[in-house]
Amino acid sequence: MTQGRVALITGARRGIGHAIASRLLHDGWNVSLGLRQPQQDWQESPAIQTFPYDATRGGEDEWVAPALARFGRIDAIIANAGVMIPQSVAEISDEDLDTMWRVNVRAPQRLARAAFPALGQSGTGRIIIIASLSGKRVASVSSSAYALTKHAAVALAHGLRQAGFEQGIRATAICPGFVATDMGRAVAPFDAEDMTSPGDIADIVADVIDLPNSASVAELAINCRAEPSF
Ligand SMILES: NC(=O)c1ccc[n+]([C@@H]2O[C@H](COP(=O)([O-])OP(=O)(O)OC[C@H]3O[C@@H](n4cnc5c(N)ncnc54)[C@H](OP(=O)(O)O)[C@@H]3O)[C@@H](O)[C@H]2O)c1
Repeated sequence: MTQGRVALITGARRGIGHAIASRLLHDGWNVSLGLRQPQQDWQESPAIQTFPYDATRGGEDEWVAPALARFGRIDAIIANAGVMIPQSVAEISDEDLDTMWRVNVRAPQRLARAAFPALGQSGTGRIIIIASLSGKRVASVSSSAYALTKHAAVALAHGLRQAGFEQGIRATAICPGFVATDMGRAVAPFDAEDMTSPGDIADIVADVIDLPNSASVAELAINCRAEPSF
């Protein structure tokens, strides 16, 4: 079996996912990265496996199997890949809502389901759902359809935490406000330097997954500005 813990990470080509993968590699983890263009995004190395993965298409079972074959264990999944289509719930098309639903909710649920037995065997399995502050409140009409899916992502994390608790699995919903990535820059009403950095989210994730089973973190809200509750 591989020395060092093993994490499966979605959406590691850029943004928050790239920062998390880089941080975990720095910390000595092995990573299996689900990527839409694996050959171009990361080079394979002893600690890095890449796997072709499109969250809209499924195939999480087909990814977990080679990850286990390569590393022999799975200690964490980081469900990070996400899409934000700025639409009102009163106007969004079925197609656009389906796209967000499939990437932001259904894919993380399928990945958790596929990895659950291995996470249980780890004894300290960790599930990180990169949700959003839009999973905690509806900040605007234009983010309301996204918020619908991210509220479901937060519920997913809570359900997984309860489902896996006896097996030592701990699940956390990470709920950032604006983060300086392509997604954040496309929608934030202020400059990137005023947003939370992807590296700070990666540091928080690295800290959370290192906590012992006796320190379960259900949710973390992270903000670069003051809101009444966050
Ligand atoms: N940035 C923010 O302000 C912010 C705030 C709160 C929460 N979040 C959440 O944080 C997570 C990461 O976002 P980010 O800011 O890093 O966004 P980003 O820079 O736009 O990156 C999104 C990542 O998700 C991947 N992805 C999108 N659709 C996919 C699909 N169908 N299959 C596989 N991968 C897919 C992308 O892959 P490609 O590179 O192949 O396109 C990319 O790696 C998302 O869940 C997002 O909702 C972001």
